[in-house]
Amino acid sequence: MPEQIVTLENVKKIYKTGDTTITALDSTTISFETNKLTLIMGPSGSGKTTLLSILGFVIYPTEGEVIYKGKKVSELKESDLATLRLHEIGFIFQQFNLIEPLNALENVMQPLILQGIKKNEATKRAKIALEEVGLVTRMYTLPKRLSGGQKQRVAIARALVTSPSMILCDEPTASLDAKSAESIMKELKTLASKNKVVVIVTHDLRLRQYADKVIYVEEGKVSDAIRNEEDYK
Ligand SMILES: Nc1ncnc2c1ncn2[C@@H]1O[C@H](COP(=O)(O)OP(=O)(O)OP(=O)(O)O)[C@@H](O)[C@H]1O
Ligand SMILES: [Mg+2]
Repeated sequence: MPEQIVTLENVKKIYKTGDTTITALDSTTISFETNKLTLIMGPSGSGKTTLLSILGFVIYPTEGEVIYKGKKVSELKESDLATLRLHEIGFIFQQFNLIEPLNALENVMQPLILQGIKKNEATKRAKIALEEVGLVTRMYTLPKRLSGGQKQRVAIARALVTSPSMILCDEPTASLDAKSAESIMKELKTLASKNKVVVIVTHDLRLRQYADKVIYVEEGKVSDAIRNEEDYK
């Protein structure tokens, strides 16, 4: 049964730099449920990463409330939020955010180590996650020696290794060829069907076939209206 995990209530994000004020996200009320793969689409600069970052508690709204599993996020302590981020959320960043001095395996192990899981167990689980993204042969390689697509796959393995409840992906297939993109999307679709919330920001029209729901963002305004093909470009 789909279950609402996270709700944004009248959430707004405003950036002030010098004299300019940018409404990155206009007043938004929306819920995300388990068992659904949701795509967020829209032009560059429209507020997609902002919306995803608010969902993952990476940034906080200027106005409004985020409610996660019935709790108001604004009322949680910083330490509770850190625990939530570590245990509940798998975030695949647009820029991958791999840790440069760590090899692929150590990057994937890192969230498990932070959770206090023993090194042997963390190694075992990280290797399985790297196998799932087809990268086990490069596990001792540093990020700077990996291609864009390989870095992206390490970032995906790192996000999935903790079995998070909510998987948030910012352009997860941007650096991938059609075959790798298909296998990652199938994996994300399977995860969604196992009671997870999966939200994917993308410009990639190929991904719509996997979506249970498409949300469109334009100039900070979010809508889930059905759009024409042209509007996705
Ligand atoms: N830290 C920040 N400080 C100031 N303005 C910001 C900041 N982050 C984002 N913005 C602005 O907010 C708006 C939305 O940015 P956002 O990154 O959410 O867009 P996006 O839809 O993810 O774009 P893209 O498809 O290019 O990744 C943009 O106008 C951007 O310049
Ligand atoms: Mg973005």
